[in-house]
Amino acid sequence: MAIQAHSSTITGATAPVLAPRTQAPQGLGPPRVASWLQGRQRSLLRRLVNQVARPGVVSLAGGLPAVELFPSQAYGDVVRRLLADPQSMQYVPPLGELKERVVEVMRRRGVDCGPEEILITTGAQQALDVAVRAFVSAGESVAVERFAYTGFREVLAPLQARLVTLPSSLDDGLDIEALERFLLAGGRPRLVYVIPDAHNPLGVSLTRETRERLVVLAHDYDFVILEDDPYGLLCCDGEFEAPLAALDSERVVYAGTFSKILAPALRIGWLRLPPSLVETCAAVKEAGDLECSRLSALAVSWLLEDLDLDRHLDLLRQTYRRRRNAMLEALAEHLPAGCAFTAPGGGMFVWVELPAGMDGERLLERTLAERKIAFVPAAAFADPADRAAPRNAARLSFSRLEPAALREAVADFATCI
Ligand SMILES: Cc1ncc(COP(=O)(O)O)c(C=O)c1O
Repeated sequence: MAIQAHSSTITGATAPVLAPRTQAPQGLGPPRVASWLQGRQRSLLRRLVNQVARPGVVSLAGGLPAVELFPSQAYGDVVRRLLADPQSMQYVPPLGELKERVVEVMRRRGVDCGPEEILITTGAQQALDVAVRAFVSAGESVAVERFAYTGFREVLAPLQARLVTLPSSLDDGLDIEALERFLLAGGRPRLVYVIPDAHNPLGVSLTRETRERLVVLAHDYDFVILEDDPYGLLCCDGEFEAPLAALDSERVVYAGTFSKILAPALRIGWLRLPPSLVETCAAVKEAGDLECSRLSALAVSWLLEDLDLDRHLDLLRQTYRRRRNAMLEALAEHLPAGCAFTAPGGGMFVWVELPAGMDGERLLERTLAERKIAFVPAAAFADPADRAAPRNAARLSFSRLEPAALREAVADFATCI
């Protein structure tokens, strides 16, 4: 950890006695923030959220699930039943019931595991935070793709971990050969972060071969794979490959979430870990929030008992498939020469490469001013210190708009290019 507290005890006998002041001191201003925060700005993505919230803006920006697909009715019924017992609002012992439900969800994803391997977390975001704090020490390095989920970079920031930036292909994600070359040349990352399916922001998925090679490398070179899988159940065409967690239960630490398949406000996610590490990671989690909301955890657990999850997932997949297809068709029709885009098998995002030399942030200013269209420029997903990261790209989300609105928004976006 970056912070190494030295312990000392002030006893009554040795502590100096200060004379009480008669006036509060003036002019010092607010306290200075910790060194890792100095000069740090809110991420570009967070700042964008404010602009997108302006009236009339059509957003292709956020990775927000479609609100009309939330199981609100069923959730309301469950919460009413839960509140009949005030214990549902109490501090909570281990969430056994919910762990059983998570094990079923994991099985659906092709991973065989038991409840003793599961740690329930406050969303996948906390799962990533716990994993990084549990496995990475000060000065160790973490390998991340050049364009990766912003929330993961936020997790790394206080640790001041050394970042290793890996390239990705727009066909099938993480460039495993680049990682192999780095390892052969003596690079020793402690942790490699991957989003195996419907990558955020690229929309791509890893091949089976890459997954297998990655697991072998993790054993050969002694690193942890942190597998972040929020979109794995949102495949639009058939099923995704099984996650890396299905191939290995020692080196792969898997983060899952109900945010994208039920609703983000529930704030329930999980880690799947070797059982011997669950308690260690539970202690790390407790330092952050003591425990998850019992009300929310029980609600998810009961909801999963009431809900026909297969039908619910089918509805999500059909809806997102129609939207994805509409976006891909519109991009093919309207994008000018010099552009390219990924073909996601599911999830919520398409990555668009803009003509060489075009700056995504400049384009955003223009699409907002001229057509009131928002999207996320590539720079939001790169390490700010990575001067070589291309700026001519954009992430578009198809999750929230109906096909007709998506077609119109993409046509406007393309006109601005
Ligand atoms: C790749 C990725 N990981 C983690 C998260 C965080 O999810 P949660 O809402 O479960 O904290 C997100 C949310 O958008 C995400 O896209």
